[in-house]
Amino acid sequence: MSTQTASLGFNRTGIGTSPTAAKQMIEGTSEFPPDAPRDESVIGLVRAESAREASTLGNGGTLGSVPPPMSVKGVVKTAAQAIKGARPTQFIDKLGERLAFERSGVRLYEALISKFQTHGGFTGGPDLAQLEENMREEHEHFQLLTDVITRMGGDPTVMTPSADLHATMTKGIMEVMVDPRTTFAQCLEALLVVELADNDCWDALVDMAREAGDEPTITAFEGALKEEADHLEDVRAWVAAAQSRTDLQ
Ligand SMILES: [Fe+2]
Ligand SMILES: [Fe+2]
Repeated sequence: MSTQTASLGFNRTGIGTSPTAAKQMIEGTSEFPPDAPRDESVIGLVRAESAREASTLGNGGTLGSVPPPMSVKGVVKTAAQAIKGARPTQFIDKLGERLAFERSGVRLYEALISKFQTHGGFTGGPDLAQLEENMREEHEHFQLLTDVITRMGGDPTVMTPSADLHATMTKGIMEVMVDPRTTFAQCLEALLVVELADNDCWDALVDMAREAGDEPTITAFEGALKEEADHLEDVRAWVAAAQSRTDLQ
């Protein structure tokens, strides 16, 4: 059984492990003060300087740009409507973000399934079929987004600025999943972060699809949001079970 229960052991990361060495270390801070000429506000100045330097590089120091549609001729009429929406560039940016996130979501579930197969589950946790079903749905969402972007004349392989942002934000999640020391239950906590973000982002995509007024896309996105809500409910319950508490949501 793999739960969140931490075991007692000889953890030496805290200062209390060695009061004598801790005292000497604190004394050392007066003997060897920081050699920077001013206080920590200098760090802010360095960051501002880095931002100025970045603004002279490609894309004016931003995370990138959204390319124009590949071919207006190839755009399906109904989807062309979406391009005429209030904020077409932002829509494409967010579609690209979710596509990349869903693709990563499949890989995260694959890693989680490996963890499950290695460590086993726990009472109140998921079984293999539930994990596989969620993974399949993440893949279907990825395919849905690929289709929508293509119908809009976009290139689904583009790393949009928002896709870049989310890839950086979620880097630590995959590290948790593939770390051989983490338990299955700990990986479910990481998955909870993913599903929380996924829910809010699909909610935003549904709003943007409504603004664009493309009915088939609205319906498909509402379906994806419903599935993401189910994922979130599942993962919350599994995490609660791993911590031996009742999920009162
Ligand atoms: Fe998802
Ligand atoms: Fe999900």
